[in-house]
Amino acid sequence: MSEPPRPRVRIWDGPTRLFHWLLVVLIPAMWWTAENDQAQLHVAIGIGVFALVLFRLLWGLMGSSTARFANFVRGPRGIISYLNGRAAKVVGHNPLGGLSVTAMILVLTAQVGLGLFASDDDGEVFGPLSLWLDEDMVETITELHETLFNVLLVLIALHIAAILYYTLVQRKNLVGPMLSGRGDAPEGVEGMRRAPVWRLAVALAITLGATALLWSQL
Ligand code: HEM
Ligand code: HEM
Repeated sequence: MSEPPRPRVRIWDGPTRLFHWLLVVLIPAMWWTAENDQAQLHVAIGIGVFALVLFRLLWGLMGSSTARFANFVRGPRGIISYLNGRAAKVVGHNPLGGLSVTAMILVLTAQVGLGLFASDDDGEVFGPLSLWLDEDMVETITELHETLFNVLLVLIALHIAAILYYTLVQRKNLVGPMLSGRGDAPEGVEGMRRAPVWRLAVALAITLGATALLWSQL
């Protein structure tokens, strides 16, 4: 007997999807520019990554339900319940996915934060806030920035491996909803609750204001 069609509900809002796919383009660009002596371009695109990450942090506090940190940041107990199949069914990140997403957002935030204070070896290209610190400090921060990138790479590799596992082994389509915003939900589970437009306006205004301020420091 064939299963009844599962209801399709909204899972991700536009801002969260745009954040994700811009990140997928810009992180490789940050890598390429860093590895190919394009430090000036690295810093310019870096300001764009700063805007993305700041927006996502604000959206995690005031965005639609599935984008909110409160909805997917879970402690060890929540994760264990999920692994034992005892967690409530919801749309959005499951507690384990939430852990990976939280780690990626935290490391990205640290990577961007360190980048703002970094500079190249020749002292020709500077992160916008690096003039606030002395040379030794900037050097240490730049080394940390270089090292942390490897941590970010590991997290991204795990993330892509997990998505492949869900797609190929579990036959669960996670990529579709990240593209279209909609997907299947278990019977009786509500879709995403969308944030009102004024919240988007506030998050964008703060992001654009902070980004313009940073740009003016270049
Ligand atoms: C530079 C590479 C990537 C980075 C940094 C990255 C980062 C992220 C982040 C931060 C999230 C959480 C979204 C949010 O709540 O804001 C996420 C979710 C997601 N990403 Fe990626 N991602 C990358 C590449 C990819 C690729 C190549 C795919 C697949 C084609 C992919 C598919 C997804 C999916 C399906 C989700 C939602 C997972 C779920 O349903 O819980 N990502 N990614
Ligand atoms: C997630 C985003 C970022 C990634 C993946 C990243 C990656 C890297 C890597 C791997 C290096 C070492 C390059 C080398 O081998 O010498 C580097 C250097 C540097 N980064 Fe970033 N970075 C990011 C964000 C930023 C931001 C936001 C800024 C400032 C706006 C920044 C400014 C710098 C500077 C000034 C250097 C030294 C110059 C150079 O060697 O290119 N980075 N970054």
